[in-house]
Amino acid sequence: MKGIILAGGTGSRLHPITLAVSKQLLPVGDKPMIYYPLSVLMLADVRDILIITTPADSEQFQQLLGDGSHLGLTLDYATQSRPRGIGEALLIGADFIGSDEVALALGDNIFHGNSFSELLQREIRNVEGCTLFGYPVHDPQRYGVGETDGDGRLLSIEEKPARPRSNRAITGLYFYDNEAVDIAKNLRPSARGEIEITDVNLAYLERGRARLVDLGRGFAWLDTGTPEALLQAGQYVRTLEERQGVRIACVEEVALRMGFITPEQCRRLGAGIAASGYGRYVMDMAEELGGAR
Ligand code: TTP
Repeated sequence: MKGIILAGGTGSRLHPITLAVSKQLLPVGDKPMIYYPLSVLMLADVRDILIITTPADSEQFQQLLGDGSHLGLTLDYATQSRPRGIGEALLIGADFIGSDEVALALGDNIFHGNSFSELLQREIRNVEGCTLFGYPVHDPQRYGVGETDGDGRLLSIEEKPARPRSNRAITGLYFYDNEAVDIAKNLRPSARGEIEITDVNLAYLERGRARLVDLGRGFAWLDTGTPEALLQAGQYVRTLEERQGVRIACVEEVALRMGFITPEQCRRLGAGIAASGYGRYVMDMAEELGGAR
């Protein structure tokens, strides 16, 4: 299974903040936004990951994450010259995906919930067609909405429906078998000029090969698209972190827990940024989980 994080876009709802900085590099709590989708892929045990950014932002992402080897990952980079749609990630990433399956994560989606890692690993082992993740929202009119039968098979997907058939918004995490690349290659841009990820999902639905997994009420799926949402996401993360004394989306900790790096490697990563509370937490985790000195 390959992973793709799509982290381009214009971030126009966050202007002027995002005029000179990528949205996905902005802080959510005490870490850059991209740590959240990156940790989701890592928790799903995906280690070979392509990061797609705008050409202008690519260098900064590489400065932040490098080749990923310090986290036990293999990271590649590609660019999207204009925001031509989420579905274009499958075209930009076609060579990278090769004959594999792919997990696509949007760079600005934040998930948090109990046993998420088990859920992700279970689903990723059983991808037949496409697997999407649905989240109950009070305003489904604002989202792509999925309706399922009793077995989780998708019966319909509607984009921003006036009369939604369910309250389950389709989130920015998509697991696909290899057919997704061919499906995307055969799509035409929509009226707004984008390769729509919904069209990819609809193609699977028509074949009866699309599933929607419910993320229940115990999960958080947070938006970061507007200044208010970004602030709220940061506050949510910090509130939980301070209350529980653990960090959400600390990629070094995830790498250690997943067995991608050793406690000593983890400790050194923390020591390199020990002036920050984040860095000290990484060192504490190395000690707690592995007895590293
Ligand atoms: P959006 O929130 O739809 O777009 P945006 O991030 O450019 O923000 P705005 O609406 O304020 O202009 O994008 C969702 C995610 O997908 C986000 O992480 C950016 C990414 N994206 C791309 O990288 N390329 C694209 O062509 C599109 C449509 C989105």
